[in-house]
Amino acid sequence: MSRPKIPTTAAFVSQKGGVGKSALARLLAIGAIHRGRKTLLADFDLDQLTCVEWGALRMRASLEPEVDARAFKSLKRLRKDNGVVDFIVADTRGMADDLSTEIAEDSDVVFLPTGVSQDDLRPTLNLARKLARRGAEGRLVMVLSKVGRSESQFGRAVETIEEAGFELLSEHWPQRDGFQSDLDGGRAGREARNPYLREIAERMEEALWSRTMKAKPRV
Ligand SMILES: Nc1ncnc2c1ncn2[C@@H]1O[C@H](COP(=O)(O)OP(=O)(O)O)[C@@H](O)[C@H]1O
Ligand SMILES: [Mg+2]
Repeated sequence: MSRPKIPTTAAFVSQKGGVGKSALARLLAIGAIHRGRKTLLADFDLDQLTCVEWGALRMRASLEPEVDARAFKSLKRLRKDNGVVDFIVADTRGMADDLSTEIAEDSDVVFLPTGVSQDDLRPTLNLARKLARRGAEGRLVMVLSKVGRSESQFGRAVETIEEAGFELLSEHWPQRDGFQSDLDGGRAGREARNPYLREIAERMEEALWSRTMKAKPRV
């Protein structure tokens, strides 16, 4: 009998809260569902349950597709009862505690959303270095998130990440009120009601997806 295939797993981790982990996790989950993947959106932030609540909100509003968003306490539990999924998006809590670190170590790709300020970049880069030391090197991808309108700030952030030697996702996630109200209404990513925001979200979805597909399978 062949061993069951481990589902491809993309994790979102950060040191800080409010950087867009849950927003991007939901965006990628929706993208994976539209690509025909049996997707599990695994919510490890048991205090906030952002993804679980959002999944329930979608159901109440009869939004399609249905998203399988469930809460998990540990990775072991997830590996045991993930059912018949073939793609997992892991949303973690801020602070990158032991659980987040463990999830990062056991994922095919680890996205680290971060703001563009040095205050945001410093802890994110420290977390990236810590994860790299623990063997996640080559699977760590920084994502500039909730980016404001200042091009010089953005440029400095890109430079800082390059100088630190970490990979940066080709797309960034701009700060827009519309994204927030879409999330509050049970939508994410490509479901944006504003066509301009939809286009931005679709580009982000494609960038996250293709980077995840590029990940080398774990042995
Ligand atoms: N691109 C964006 N523009 C504006 N608001 C955003 C954007 N992405 C996320 N948000 C909002 O910012 C807040 C924090 O985002 P969230 O994804 O929950 O962060 P985290 O999971 O890292 O704590 C939420 O209220 C969310 O709706
Ligand atoms: Mg969150």
